[in-house]
Amino acid sequence: MAVITEIEDLRRLHQRRVPRMFYDYVDVGAWTGSTYRANRDDFDRILLRQRVARNIQDRSLATTMMGQPVSMPVALAPVGLLGMQHPDGEIHAARAAKAAGVPFTLSTMSICSLEDIAEATGAPFWFQLYTLRDEEFLDNILDRARRAGVTVLVLTLDLTIQGQRHKDLKNRMTAPPRLTPANLLNIALHPRWALGMLGTKRRGFANIIGHARGVTNMGDLMEWTGRQFDQRLDWARVEDIIRKWGGPVILKGINDPEDARRALDTGAQAILVSNHGGRQLDGAPSTIRALPAIRRAVGPDYPLYLDGGIQSGQAALKAMARGANGVFIGRAFTYGLGAMGQQGVATALEIIRREMDITMALCGVNNIGDFGPDCLWSDDRAAAQQQGSD
Ligand code: GLV
Repeated sequence: MAVITEIEDLRRLHQRRVPRMFYDYVDVGAWTGSTYRANRDDFDRILLRQRVARNIQDRSLATTMMGQPVSMPVALAPVGLLGMQHPDGEIHAARAAKAAGVPFTLSTMSICSLEDIAEATGAPFWFQLYTLRDEEFLDNILDRARRAGVTVLVLTLDLTIQGQRHKDLKNRMTAPPRLTPANLLNIALHPRWALGMLGTKRRGFANIIGHARGVTNMGDLMEWTGRQFDQRLDWARVEDIIRKWGGPVILKGINDPEDARRALDTGAQAILVSNHGGRQLDGAPSTIRALPAIRRAVGPDYPLYLDGGIQSGQAALKAMARGANGVFIGRAFTYGLGAMGQQGVATALEIIRREMDITMALCGVNNIGDFGPDCLWSDDRAAAQQQGSD
């Protein structure tokens, strides 16, 4: 096997090892994919300051996220259907996160359940929730999350209607896969994946099937999900859900300074600046571009995290220099999972950790907390300091 040195190596392996519909589900943006690409490409335009002779022998990436000690400020983002990328995928990702000392966020649309993760890791984790209409289900899943040891609720605000992703429609993507002739052929071409899937009982949306009233099979689930996205969502409802949870909340899916300012009044402890990985509003700015204006809107001290396009340690550091307190990675670790299960997620995290460490050193910084606007080359520094000129 080729030596794995960067996230791109994991992406290529993932593409080879997993049936196309599931790989495509990850590696896609909405419509033209312009925001999806910009999330990543806009990092390339930000320049770092190369500094020398600053004694960089004692470096540390350790800090906190949501008051929790982390070995580096990189959390695993909620990604749906991880259990279709690798058998029991969410369990593998959660174990890798625990071993690496970073937070794991379980998606509502996961294949393994809240209870599976609690049992497999015995560690606290974070849970992502959509703002669904079924009140009984909502109360119930919040209770289950509390009992499973969830410490932080990541409430998604940017998916009250789904963005159109051409590939998913063309592949007729479902979990478990609909057995069309094209899908059957593609599965047959991935025998290792198919055997792994046959070896686990976890092949459906375990957080939902059997827990939402009337949802006992895949057909019911599709119908239920279609009805659940809450297009009436407004700030009062957001506040209502935050109250119901009663614990720490990160509001995910804010990509505009005005929404960020409004979010402050909800009592949420943090914002995750996100455009859903470019999967929702194609044409929205990349998150790294939106970040400085959002930082200015919420002030210097409010916790801000960012996802979208973080596929290297350098991108993570650039986000921090522009005002983020930490980042979430989605595709970067999912490629690892599809490529090699838990070991692949561990490898993805190690790649990002090494890139952060070396970059920090070459910028002459010892502590991650000191990686600020000062580490950016002049024009970028000006943009970050003005926080919003971009
Ligand atoms: C769901 O959150 C998705 O992006 O597919």
